[in-house]
Amino acid sequence: MTSKESYMSGFGNEFATEAEKGALPIGRNSPQKVPMGLYAEQFTGTAFTVPRAFNKRTWTYRIRPSVLHKPFEPVPHALLRTSPFGDAVITPNQLRWNAFPIPEEPTDFLEGLVTIAGNGDAHTQTGIAIHIFAANKDMTNRFFYNADGELLVVAEKGRVTFATELGVIEIEPGEIAVLPRGLKFKVTLPDGKARGYVCENYGSLFRLPDLGPIGSNGLANPRDFETPVASYEEREGDLELYAKYGGGLWKAGIGHSPLDVVAWHGNYVPYKYDLRKFNTIGSISFDHPDPSIFTVLTSPSAETGVANCDFVIFPDRWLVMEDTFRPPWYHRNTMSEYMGLVYGRYDAKEEGFVQGGGSLHNQMSAHGPDAEGFEKATNQSMEPQKLSDTLAFMFESRYAIHPTRFAIDSEALQSDYQSCWSGLRKHFKK
Ligand SMILES: [Fe+2]
Repeated sequence: MTSKESYMSGFGNEFATEAEKGALPIGRNSPQKVPMGLYAEQFTGTAFTVPRAFNKRTWTYRIRPSVLHKPFEPVPHALLRTSPFGDAVITPNQLRWNAFPIPEEPTDFLEGLVTIAGNGDAHTQTGIAIHIFAANKDMTNRFFYNADGELLVVAEKGRVTFATELGVIEIEPGEIAVLPRGLKFKVTLPDGKARGYVCENYGSLFRLPDLGPIGSNGLANPRDFETPVASYEEREGDLELYAKYGGGLWKAGIGHSPLDVVAWHGNYVPYKYDLRKFNTIGSISFDHPDPSIFTVLTSPSAETGVANCDFVIFPDRWLVMEDTFRPPWYHRNTMSEYMGLVYGRYDAKEEGFVQGGGSLHNQMSAHGPDAEGFEKATNQSMEPQKLSDTLAFMFESRYAIHPTRFAIDSEALQSDYQSCWSGLRKHFKK
């Protein structure tokens, strides 16, 4: 690429950037002749007629247009799946997994994607899939795009660099990247290996939640989202373009790098966000608020206030509520929750919910603090308490989340998870 990481700030902005001075057309999107002999190509993320506030598209000016590749052929992928998949039983049981190991054999980001669960239907653009990636090899001669959904990537171990059509994004644990549906990219690993979580969102594009009475600031602030400046590679060779399309994986030969966009302008863009910049808001009187107050990004469904997927985090924060059971209370929700842990400890489950692992509490499945957590929270001093160096997250969805056969049969599934509640004693006294 012509440049390394360099970013523009803002969420939903109309950005304009050029890697070569004068490459970006001025005043029109598709002039008769584009400067520097580039091709103009539009890349849309929403239907043309979506209201302006939600309309996403980007104009790219590239060395070759995207049509220039050989035919795609289907290729197998060991463990990448697309909803709906019917190969494991959806269950009311609470499920929890240990971390999946990073493979010993050379494995790049695409090869290292493993589907844990999903819901909805990629073909009708509802729901999500949840994948883990664990990789130890750079993508060098192959590129990937996902036509089925946008990818929200949560780094958990090691840095991850995405060289995309629109520029270079690098994330480390504590940060996320969002890669739009259809965007071509390759992944390199500056630390040699990396692991993390991926939410593949088939539904409406992730956006910032409305703030209601919170006002005009707070939670994730728009200025902290970063989109890369234009950066390209002029490279020819016997290369490969992979596509996840209609639920399957496809491969086409390509004689050049598709990361050849020299200039672009628009608002359909990849972005990164440092979760440590999240302005966490909570109770300063009593009671533990609903976790919706920790929503970073939301993918709305057609029903107001009912998310296709919310991305929610549990970062460092103060707990100051008086006369309050401070961890999450016991609950049964209509929404379904997959949780992961990036680092530290989660206050409702100090043991067993491990970094790189995950838990699934589906709709109406009861959950809450383990026995130890209950005892501690019931008897703790009500002095202000700081939860430090901790970052858990949740992909929450209106649709029950279906585990894959791989996830259910995996050795990482904790067969004794429910025993964490078995020590909850009866305290009732008339
Ligand atoms: Fe929950």
